[in-house]
Amino acid sequence: MEVIIQPTKDSAAALVSRIIARELRANPHLVLGLATGKTMECVYRHLVRMHREEHLDFSLCSTFNLDEYVGLFPSDPNSYRHYMNHHLFKQVNVDIRNTHLPNGIADDLEAECRKYEALIQRFGGIDLQLLGIGKAGHIGFNEPLSALRSRTRVKALTPTTIKQNSVFFGGEDRMPRRAITMGVGTILEARRCVLLATGDSKAGIISQAVEGPISSMVTASAMQLHSRCTVVVDEEAAADLKEKEYYRWIFQNEPEWQDYQ
Ligand code: F6R
Repeated sequence: MEVIIQPTKDSAAALVSRIIARELRANPHLVLGLATGKTMECVYRHLVRMHREEHLDFSLCSTFNLDEYVGLFPSDPNSYRHYMNHHLFKQVNVDIRNTHLPNGIADDLEAECRKYEALIQRFGGIDLQLLGIGKAGHIGFNEPLSALRSRTRVKALTPTTIKQNSVFFGGEDRMPRRAITMGVGTILEARRCVLLATGDSKAGIISQAVEGPISSMVTASAMQLHSRCTVVVDEEAAADLKEKEYYRWIFQNEPEWQDYQ
């Protein structure tokens, strides 16, 4: 794992969007794994701006989202399909037929999960997976005790997640209790991962995920097993990290990061 600390939420999101842009320019057929949530909105704003002002071209890339709520139609304003269309897909030149999310209203949810895994394989696997982190340490909707080898499946959401996301639904009662999510094992197979966390509410969980033991109680800690995972945080989310000076040195001195200074 590498940790990059940026001064603000916006500069952290800008850095993540530059990593994505660079990968996309190097490989226009990139298979991009995407996440939703508040943190990612800022990344998508930067990507849309780069598309408009810097000719960032999405026409040949394909996307796979991490998760979708069970029971929500794609047209539902709270569905992740709706979120992605609104924040990214409709604002850039991606071919909408190449954008994929699990179908949360499939009659046979288990078959849908198997189909999603097979589709990722058919596209040759994910080149770059974008990740956020929940307050209980989840990546995707891999809630505490998710097997570190888990695959795409239906997962019941924890009270912490329901509380975190119910603000979008206007109350906990209106929020779905289950979601389809890529598994931790699925995520670990992506060739590169970038996890973004911002704000002081993520400081405690980021220190557990990055510097704590690998545990299914904090599924983001499984990223320690990945050979190419970059964690980007702002100063607030970095507050509880012990080795901050080391991380700063790496970012300032390693050749890989020179173009990002
Ligand atoms: C959503 C997802 C989740 C979020 C996480 C953080 O697709 O995968 O793991 O990334 O819950 O959400 P925010 O950014 O709203 O704090």
